[in-house]
Parts: sequence; C-alpha cells; structure tokens
Amino acid sequence: MLGAGFRIRAATTADLSEVLETLAEASRWEVARGFPHPWPVPFPEDRVQLGLDRGEAYCVSDPAGRPAGTVTLQWEDLPFWGPRPADAGYVHRLAVRRAFAGHGLGSRILTWADGEVRARHRAFVRLDCLTSATRLHEFYRSNGFRRVGEVAVGGLDCTLFEKRLAPP
Ligand SMILES: CC(C)(COP(=O)(O)OP(=O)(O)OC[C@H]1O[C@@H](n2cnc3c(N)ncnc32)[C@H](O)[C@@H]1OP(=O)(O)O)[C@@H](O)C(=O)NCCC(=O)NCCS
Repeated sequence: MLGAGFRIRAATTADLSEVLETLAEASRWEVARGFPHPWPVPFPEDRVQLGLDRGEAYCVSDPAGRPAGTVTLQWEDLPFWGPRPADAGYVHRLAVRRAFAGHGLGSRILTWADGEVRARHRAFVRLDCLTSATRLHEFYRSNGFRRVGEVAVGGLDCTLFEKRLAPP
C-alpha cells in the first residue's frame, strides 16, 4: 500500500501495455509542456518487457484499481552508475498519470522504494535525471536526494542523485 488507498504491485507481462501507456502519457505531457524529456517515444517495448521479466517493474493503481503510475526498481545500474558494491536500489521510469499528479503520489512511490531498499539491507537509493530538468531536481531534493555527479549516457547529459537511508 502507498497510502490513501493507492496500491503498488509487481508488474507482470499482462501489465506491459499499461506500463507502456503510462510512460507514453508522461512523454506526451512533457512534450506538451515543453519540458526536457528523456524517454524515447514510443518507449521500447523490449526494455519494459525486460524489467517485467526481472521482476523490477511495478504498477501503481488508485483505490478503484485504475492505472495511476509506474516505477522500476533495479538492484544494479551499470550504464549510469558503473560497477558498485551491492549497497543501493536504483529508481527508473518513475511516472504518475496526469489524472493523479500533483498530490504527492510520486513522493509516496519514492518512500515505498526506500522500504524495498531497506528490506534488502541496502543503504542508498539512487536515480538519474536529465541535467536540464531543473524542476525535477527540486522534486528529488525535496524527497531527500542530493546531487552526487553528472554522467552522459546515450548522448543525454544526466545528473545523478542519491539518498542515504537512515539506519533502521
Ligand atoms: C515526476 C512525477 C512522477 C512526480 O509526480 P507527482 O508526485 O504527482 O508530482 P508532480 O507531477 O506535481 O511533479 C512535481 C513537479 O515536478 C514537475 N515535473 C514533473 N516532471 C517533470 C519533467 N519531466 N520536467 C520538468 N518538470 C517536471 C511538475 O511540473 C511539478 O512542478 P510544479 O509543482 O511546479 O508544477 C511526475 O511528475 C511524472 O510522471 N513526470 C513525468 C515523468 C518524469 O519526468 N519522470 C521522472 C524521470 S527522472
């Protein structure tokens, strides 16, 4: 549970189209707002399928069961963070459907990710974000992340953010 009746569950192959549509809706919204947008349009199905196969992709639904968001939580991230000790979870593809945006659901999902990472006895939550998406940087800072570096991946300049979890 994410609070306020929102639920999060591991996505299965049956959820492929739901996850793809959530990502596509986020990209359409970013384009319409003139925001920098990192994700290819359409998002490559095989990459989402890989996340489903690995059990790393999640679906968020509202109290009535309607699709409300998605997130992927990985346990390593070589392209963005390189080889590391097994000390973190890596958040990717965080998206909230616009019908549910603006009420803290993104933060609830990030708090859920904290719990998953703690449950694995890992101390850090890490993520990347386009360097040009400065409003998103504020969002992550307000959720306890700090900027720890820059990296270029696939021709995109990205800022690396990290949150150290308080010990249990
Ligand atoms: C990031 C996200 C999950 C947060 O959801 P939320 O908790 O409901 O919060 P909001 O949607 O209100 O977003 C928080 C702020 O970030 C801004 N923001 C969100 N995505 C943004 C983006 N891609 N670029 C620039 N600003 C963005 C919002 O406009 C909002 O700013 P405002 O309060 O000044 O209007 C959601 O905005 C989203 O799905 N964004 C598109 C996908 C995305 O960018 N994911 C993160 C990739 S690193």
